[in-house]
Amino acid sequence: MSSFFPPPGTGITIVEVGPRDGLQNEPEKLTVQTRVKFVRSLAAAGLKRIEAASFVHPKWIPSMAGAAEVMAGLRDLQGIQLSALTPNLRGLEDGLKAGLKEAAVFTSASETHCQKNINCSIEESFERFLPVAERCREAGVRMRGYVSVVAGCPYEGDVEPEQVARLSKRLIDEVGCFEVSLGDTVGVGTPSTIWSLLHAHSEAGVDRSRLALHLHDTRGTALANVLVGLSAGIRTFDSSAGGLGGCPYAPGATGNLATEDLVYMLEGMGLETGVNLAQLTEATAGICQLLGRRPPSRTWRALRPLERT
Ligand code: HMG
Ligand code: MG
Repeated sequence: MSSFFPPPGTGITIVEVGPRDGLQNEPEKLTVQTRVKFVRSLAAAGLKRIEAASFVHPKWIPSMAGAAEVMAGLRDLQGIQLSALTPNLRGLEDGLKAGLKEAAVFTSASETHCQKNINCSIEESFERFLPVAERCREAGVRMRGYVSVVAGCPYEGDVEPEQVARLSKRLIDEVGCFEVSLGDTVGVGTPSTIWSLLHAHSEAGVDRSRLALHLHDTRGTALANVLVGLSAGIRTFDSSAGGLGGCPYAPGATGNLATEDLVYMLEGMGLETGVNLAQLTEATAGICQLLGRRPPSRTWRALRPLERT
């Protein structure tokens, strides 16, 4: 019987989004120094791609204020691909000044979520991305794209997989994104939804190597959805230390898939993430102590049963 999963030894890329998605919804405003230290501790645990900040309006996302200072505080970090959200040219210019080398733009599969999140229609979001892309090319900065609410929208309900695939293809072909991350923002996806989504991307001619899965674990289906992704050839997954996170413009959304849970499962399957789980739980403990809460990650809790935070 041939295996459904990648062979042991296969490398899996984790994009750690804790310092951005993990913290953006936290009421507790952390200092720039704390956020810098958090990123450094994640890098020390072996994470090589880390989304560190968000160049958005601080009125909208107060916890991400000080993005330039966070990036500047990380300039000396070697061998780590740091990225940040840059929804428009203004955000990108601020990022470039702070030494940003990887930018990320984000749109949505539903009009209502797009309006609530970035204050424009889906079509207008692409109009905003084109000058961002041109400036990225000029500056030699690579660009990632996100599509949100890919498995269902909190405002509009069901989302057509073909609609998501069309947007991913445009982000790659028109905007020039090197990778598109498919966001199940409210964690409603099940293995069959994710399978249909990936199938629609194949039909649209989007190469699996250009896709990542960004799963929120609101209903406990994230790891099951990772398995579907693995079996369909996805090798890049976003996750957040401790399982922190959520989109402020997606009511009901809770944390991202926890990096600890993802690493535990992948390493247990013989796949290689390069992440040291003990060090990762330490990094999570540090930030959660400051947030005054216990991380939702099941693996974190299993490894540190006696700690309240
Ligand atoms: P806007 O109001 O449409 O922008 O905001 P505008 O061009 O009309 O400008 C209005 C004001 O904002 C002006 O200032 C601009 O200078 C300023 P004023 O004259 O009023 O003083 N401005 C900015 N300030 C700082 N940084 C900027 C910027 N741009 C304009 N980049 C904008 C458009 C996108 C900026 C706004 O809607 C915004 O900041 N939204 C926040 C969106 C966000 O961060 N959402 C959460 C992240 S996405 C997510 O979590 C999903 C994801 O994880 C995947 C998944 O799970 O699905 C990625
Ligand atoms: Mg997210």
